[in-house]
Amino acid sequence: LELQLNLEEIEKGGYEHFMLKEIYEQPRAIHDTFRGRLRPDQGIIKMAGIDQNSERFLNANRIIIVACGTSWHAGLVAEYIFEDMARIPVEVEYASEFRYRNPVITENDVLIAISQSGETADTLAAIKLAKENGAFVFGVCNVVGSSIARETDAGAYTHAGPEIGVASTKAFTTQITVLMMIAMKLAKEKGVFSESKYHELLTELEGIPQKVERTLETNPLIEKISEVYKDSSNCLYLGRGYNFPVALEGALKLKEISYIHAEGYPAAEMKHGPIALIDEQMPVVVIATRKGHYEKVVSNIQEIKSRKGKIIAVVTEGDNTVKELADHVVEVPEASESMTPLLTTIPLQLLSYHIAVMRGCNVDQPRNLAKSVTVE
Ligand code: G6P
Repeated sequence: LELQLNLEEIEKGGYEHFMLKEIYEQPRAIHDTFRGRLRPDQGIIKMAGIDQNSERFLNANRIIIVACGTSWHAGLVAEYIFEDMARIPVEVEYASEFRYRNPVITENDVLIAISQSGETADTLAAIKLAKENGAFVFGVCNVVGSSIARETDAGAYTHAGPEIGVASTKAFTTQITVLMMIAMKLAKEKGVFSESKYHELLTELEGIPQKVERTLETNPLIEKISEVYKDSSNCLYLGRGYNFPVALEGALKLKEISYIHAEGYPAAEMKHGPIALIDEQMPVVVIATRKGHYEKVVSNIQEIKSRKGKIIAVVTEGDNTVKELADHVVEVPEASESMTPLLTTIPLQLLSYHIAVMRGCNVDQPRNLAKSVTVE
């Protein structure tokens, strides 16, 4: 037993929990995801699974993305990326709903299945259904040789390395990275991107690990913020555009490991319901980066403030407007809107981590949850 405990300590590499280690591994993990693929100097992205099947993607009526949990949130981010960059219509589905609702699938559809473990039963079943109907099925998995990796027609691994914490962290950011590379490649091949725009985005993506590293420096501040809100019973997360799925993911992380009830919402939908919940007891985490509906989100923040809600805002470095309104601001480096999820996710992971630790929860193995759900 002692030997086993020591092994675990070694595996944690000096971190108190696997989750924290995996949060901190993200700069490296994202780098590993694009290593050997992203070549800004040559103006190319090399991905065999896409290169060999680009016609299927370019001629697709639409892309259907299926996944569960955090991977589904990565799928939602990908919907914004694919439609915005590659101009291909995308539908994102919970695998469990997709497979049971008699979906319309044709030979001209491309189905992308996203799964860290590659073993999620519902996602696997959705793949089988799509294949039976002639769709081209592409997998985005982390675990090499997993069932989903084997069942799909082609795919791209995330190369995040083993993820032990039940709550997914580095799998999420690396899934977004892979999906972004695919979207960029297709945008280039379709002629949506000029040579220079393509080069600009490739270079920016290459610089993301460094920006993630800088974002991780907010950790001590987030620990202090966590101290203030650790006894809350509810928490609301708001974001817009590319950061709406990040709000959902932030809320899921808090629920999963701290057992605080949390909800993610598109900021503009606040007025259609969640605003009724806001009072001086309600912490509201708002993603308000400068690019992407900034003014609108600022006016949402004003609405929360006038109802005495507590505001924790994730903003772009140097922001002064939100600083005046929010109770706490966490800064992330400037980035194109499409790349902000890779940064804004980090403080939300850290917030849920610290709150869960302060509440004495088992961060790496939360109650009732499993790392991979192989039952339907
Ligand atoms: C479980 C895990 C989540 C994960 C989800 C999907 O619920 O606890 O962290 O996001 O399954 O798993 P997958 O391996 O398919 O990404």
